[in-house]
Amino acid sequence: MDNGQLTVITADHTLAVPLLRAGEIVALPTETVYGLSGSALDESAIGKIFAAKNRPQDNPLIVHVSGIEMVRDLGLELPPLAEKLAEAFWPGTLTMVLPRGANCPIPAGVSCGLDTVAVRVPNNAIFLEVINDTMCPLAAPSANLSGRPSPTTARHVYEDLQGRIPLIIDGGACSCGIESTVVMFDAGRIQILRPGAITAEMLSAFGEVVANTGESPRSPGTRYKHYSPKARVVVYEGDIPPKAAGESCFVIANPDTQTLFAKFREFDESGAKEIYVKLPEQSGVGAALYNRIMKAAGL
Ligand code: TXA
Ligand code: MG
Repeated sequence: MDNGQLTVITADHTLAVPLLRAGEIVALPTETVYGLSGSALDESAIGKIFAAKNRPQDNPLIVHVSGIEMVRDLGLELPPLAEKLAEAFWPGTLTMVLPRGANCPIPAGVSCGLDTVAVRVPNNAIFLEVINDTMCPLAAPSANLSGRPSPTTARHVYEDLQGRIPLIIDGGACSCGIESTVVMFDAGRIQILRPGAITAEMLSAFGEVVANTGESPRSPGTRYKHYSPKARVVVYEGDIPPKAAGESCFVIANPDTQTLFAKFREFDESGAKEIYVKLPEQSGVGAALYNRIMKAAGL
């Protein structure tokens, strides 16, 4: 909720540490999108994250850690396949959903009562330093209001969360620009719950990969309409449709992961009524881009 608090933007990430230690929440850059972080061990900080984002109470958070040792310290179960993927892709844009194990200190609210916790090691020096300095795993969903396009600059975070959070650490534009690939393990297979820059092709070197196409996705976040600008998103294939030349219509003819969400926000600011987006090929990272564009279009 907007509680009228002053929101500071700074490049000085050391300011994040005392706030996080005191149970506050802070927006931090990652290589994918900006995250709204809070101590993953502090139930009240977790509550503040859900409130600031207007996040549905049944959409669990990713816990960001500094390395695989922290995953072990949290008592999460690490199947051999997960260890291999961690070695290959961490730090990086891979999130793994792991069974909690018996003694996991992470409050149930982080994963909305599920018997799993999603973990990722972000490839961003600022974020990693803040984890190390707080000595604490940090829960962090994307730092947008729920349903809005994910933020890839500090300004995007400010647009959505000013008055709701005390601090935004500005680490420049995110290099990847699209949220992490989320996987879980199912009888020795890798199940992709959300596609991202680490592709099915890349994962298939480590085991059989299955896409999560079921009616009730196992990743609760994928149920909601997401990533939407205020303008209506219209998808097309082939040539730009003639209607796209209409008043207050904008076109994204060559969508890419670094700029898709930024363009949605920019066109909204320019008063767009409709944004025409060409659907990319679904190979490689195109599969992730395709997924976000279809969701933005409500399809
Ligand atoms: O790149 C990213 O993943 C960014 C940066 C900040 O790390 N974070 C991000 O978080 O995109 P968020 O909250 O916007 O998306 C997290 C996704 C949701 O789809 C959620 O349902 C899924 O991960 N998720 C989290 N915990 C889960 C769990 N225990 N089981 C299944 N899905 C889970
Ligand atoms: Mg999100």
